[in-house]
Amino acid sequence: MLKVEDLYKSYGNVNALNGVTFSLGKGETKVIVGPSGAGKSTLLKCINLLIKPDRGRIFLEGEEITNPSTNENKVRQKIGFVFQEFNLFNHLTVLGNVMIGLTKVKRIPKEEALEKAREVLNMVHIREDLWNRYPSQISGGEKQRVAIARALAMEPVLMLYDEPTSALDPQLADEVLQVIKELSRMGMTSLIVTHEMNFALEVADEILFMSDGRIVHTGSPTELLSSPKHDLAVRFLRLGGINGFLD
Ligand SMILES: Nc1ncnc2c1ncn2[C@@H]1O[C@H](COP(=O)(O)OP(=O)(O)OP(=O)(O)O)[C@@H](O)[C@H]1O
Ligand SMILES: [Mg+2]
Repeated sequence: MLKVEDLYKSYGNVNALNGVTFSLGKGETKVIVGPSGAGKSTLLKCINLLIKPDRGRIFLEGEEITNPSTNENKVRQKIGFVFQEFNLFNHLTVLGNVMIGLTKVKRIPKEEALEKAREVLNMVHIREDLWNRYPSQISGGEKQRVAIARALAMEPVLMLYDEPTSALDPQLADEVLQVIKELSRMGMTSLIVTHEMNFALEVADEILFMSDGRIVHTGSPTELLSSPKHDLAVRFLRLGGINGFLD
């Protein structure tokens, strides 16, 4: 589904990405962890074509999307991107936020867009009595689930999440993590940046440890849990801020 090949990106003398290579198969979920400044957000933004890498190639469904002739809007329509900040439109209701991409970008008739919106709002467990509220009238966790629904409505082939719960209280965060996990189990191909290590271990097929613009270690949750004393893993699990995971 996704292949990232030897990706480099620098800002002045900061090497944000320093040769990143990995792939993500259809239906797989991988989680990226690592300290602040490791290049995690830069990597996701390169995949979504928000940032142009200096070197390296990215393939989505076998097609090279880093090729200059790529239709960037078409690629972005295939990728759902959920950020730490909820980035909903404040002047639109919950339904309006979920439908706008369908009616304005995909030019789908309103009735059909409404049908799709119902489906995805149900998938993220947003109750019907919230559908006509504005973002200021719902909780942070609900906003983030609406943001996920809005991405899902476009029927992406890949979902990218960049610290989707770091702005939320633990209980609200759990509701969001639960939804992300359900989507992953349903076969949604997902790449998730998070500091929630217990969640990472539950949801990931593989965990990628990033530091200084590189993937320095990878492992399945089973491997990591069976050898928690692995030096590098321990170091990064600590940096990832897993509360009591290794105690
Ligand atoms: N627009 C920019 N201009 C200059 N430097 C940047 C820019 N964006 C990121 N950087 C630098 O690139 C490096 C990687 O940043 P990035 O945001 O990818 O890290 P991150 O792993 O997502 O960190 P965090 O966990 O804090 O979100 C950092 O040193 C950062 O300061
Ligand atoms: Mg980041």
